[in-house]
Amino acid sequence: MGVWTRKNVADLQIEAGDTDEGQHTLKRSLGPLNLIFIGVGGIIGAGIFVLTGQAAAEHAGPAIALSFVLAGFACLCAGLCYAEFAAMIPIAGSAYTYAYATMGELVAWIIGWALVLEYLVAASAVAVGWSGYFTAFLGELGIHLPQSLTSAPLAFDAAGHLVTTGALLNVPAMSLVGVLTIFLIVGIKESANFNNVMVAVKLTIVLLVIVFGSMYVNPDNWHPFVPPAEGPGKFGYSGVVAGAATIFFAYIGFDGVSTVAQEARNPQRDMPIGILGSLVLCTILYILMALVMTGLAPYKELAVPHPVFVAIDHAGPKLRWLGYAVNVGAIAGLASVVMVLLLSQSRVFYTMARDGLFFPMFAKIHPHFRTPHLGTLVIGLCSGLVAATLPIGVIGHLVSLGTLSAFVMVCAGIWVLRRLHPELARPFRAPWVPVIPIFGVLSCGYMMISLPRETWELFIGWMAIGVVIYFLYGRRHSRISKRHP
Ligand code: ALA
Repeated sequence: MGVWTRKNVADLQIEAGDTDEGQHTLKRSLGPLNLIFIGVGGIIGAGIFVLTGQAAAEHAGPAIALSFVLAGFACLCAGLCYAEFAAMIPIAGSAYTYAYATMGELVAWIIGWALVLEYLVAASAVAVGWSGYFTAFLGELGIHLPQSLTSAPLAFDAAGHLVTTGALLNVPAMSLVGVLTIFLIVGIKESANFNNVMVAVKLTIVLLVIVFGSMYVNPDNWHPFVPPAEGPGKFGYSGVVAGAATIFFAYIGFDGVSTVAQEARNPQRDMPIGILGSLVLCTILYILMALVMTGLAPYKELAVPHPVFVAIDHAGPKLRWLGYAVNVGAIAGLASVVMVLLLSQSRVFYTMARDGLFFPMFAKIHPHFRTPHLGTLVIGLCSGLVAATLPIGVIGHLVSLGTLSAFVMVCAGIWVLRRLHPELARPFRAPWVPVIPIFGVLSCGYMMISLPRETWELFIGWMAIGVVIYFLYGRRHSRISKRHP
């Protein structure tokens, strides 16, 4: 069997139904609300709390709200395709598994490897963002942690060289990953409950910002809504697109819902609810948040690491309380993002290991907790170490590129599968195929090519490493190849 071998969808469906039959399987305990909360948990985080300001100040001005519409549209096209796949093939591998069923083993591996950027690497990056908010919050309470314990020992200098900073470790970032890893090992239900609390806090704060912030909007700040172009990607309509590519990061995470398909009680019905429900809810909130933020403060002033706080500050002393609440929302919000991303990574590796393409340890299920405990532990250790030591706060674009490549594959895959197997039962059907998948491929593809060249170089390097690992390990251990040599 070659590198283009596809996995049979009927086999995958049997595999998906195989769970909940004993202590060596994942536990089916998630209902529709938990799934929506896992989606929202993964979505609302550093993107809205940190990146929006920079994207408005440098690319789109008040029209950053339009950037959210554009990126939201691309994600909705991808989300509809994810929903069809996740209901039809409810396997924890998500885009990796869908690629295996439609484009063959090598493409599946490449997508699985790209998902490491979206999940593991992004979790480390968001943990670093969380550490910044948390340290500032402690500072406000009069607890001052030494800088040597709150930042990475390595950083890039102005020339792009890696230099030492004199710091020891980013202890808060590492500790967050550690605590969340323990939750994830102990159980999916326990993790979902913790996530629910974090999501309730961040949703409340986001709604408060929208409601109270809108009362203090100064419409003059919205004029001109699309600032005149100053060059490619700098304001004007090209700036709106560049803004969309930047804030695309804010939407990452809804696909995490599809990685818990084997832990959903009724995936055929609830996967589309979880994926599309969380995506639509967050898209509406993001557009409103963007309008409120750029209505409260002149967009040029939002190029700071805490733009929501700065925007609220413009409303004056009456909204000071909300500014403090925003910090709490960011702390809860970023923590739940890290949790969902780590969860998703463990499920993707779990599936890859079951297929023989990744180390078997990642497929081991704890007999009592019913989670892939060893894989989760290794992922937590790697992510914590990266967050504690590397200057990783700047890799947002790389994460987006990895995610967009998976979205393009999922959109194309839906069309391929409709043609290959029109007869398959599809509990949820994406509307207007092939129009929606084509829009998905084009809009995600366009965002991919608007990302900077350096990001592409890093991405190609990352993928090359992945291909080498595939030929050294995955290809030789592939279960499907062993079965049909
Ligand atoms: N969407 C997630 C965030 O914005 C990754 O933090």
